[in-house]
Amino acid sequence: MSESINIDRSSSKSEKYEQLIPQILALVKGESNRVAILATVSAVLHEAFDFFWTGFYLVEGSELIVGPFQGLVACLRIQKGKGVCGSAWENEQSIIVPDVYKYPGHIACSALSQSEIVIPLISDSGKVLGVLDIDSTELDAFDDVDRNNLEKLCIHRGKIL
Ligand code: SME
Repeated sequence: MSESINIDRSSSKSEKYEQLIPQILALVKGESNRVAILATVSAVLHEAFDFFWTGFYLVEGSELIVGPFQGLVACLRIQKGKGVCGSAWENEQSIIVPDVYKYPGHIACSALSQSEIVIPLISDSGKVLGVLDIDSTELDAFDDVDRNNLEKLCIHRGKIL
């Protein structure tokens, strides 16, 4: 079976998320395997928005370990509190970085990445299970439209995590 997403490429970013989120939820409906779910979410977002890197890091002990992603090879492990991902985990908050070269402690997995958004994956019980990390080759690519919509996917979604 091959699935493809249905999206009007001429629509605004906000409209694209409105079109995509129900499709993502439909694709993973009834699925309980976390790798299957996270791989699907990263594939859909990456295809729809042509991001540079779209993927997950998952908490294991005091580290984040790279999980399902789309894009170039990236760092495998990030310590709690380190980089944008480790900070989003430690502070349990989404972080938008308009210019990665101005973010102290940013971990550069690729020199092509210019801006970034990281959203913590928070379970129904409030535990951080990992983060969604998206990178763009454009400066200032992410805003509150991304934050609000990606938080809908990542925070307190129960099964999607
Ligand atoms: N830039 C991230 C590291 C992960 S890569 O961007 C895929 C950070 O500073 O945590």
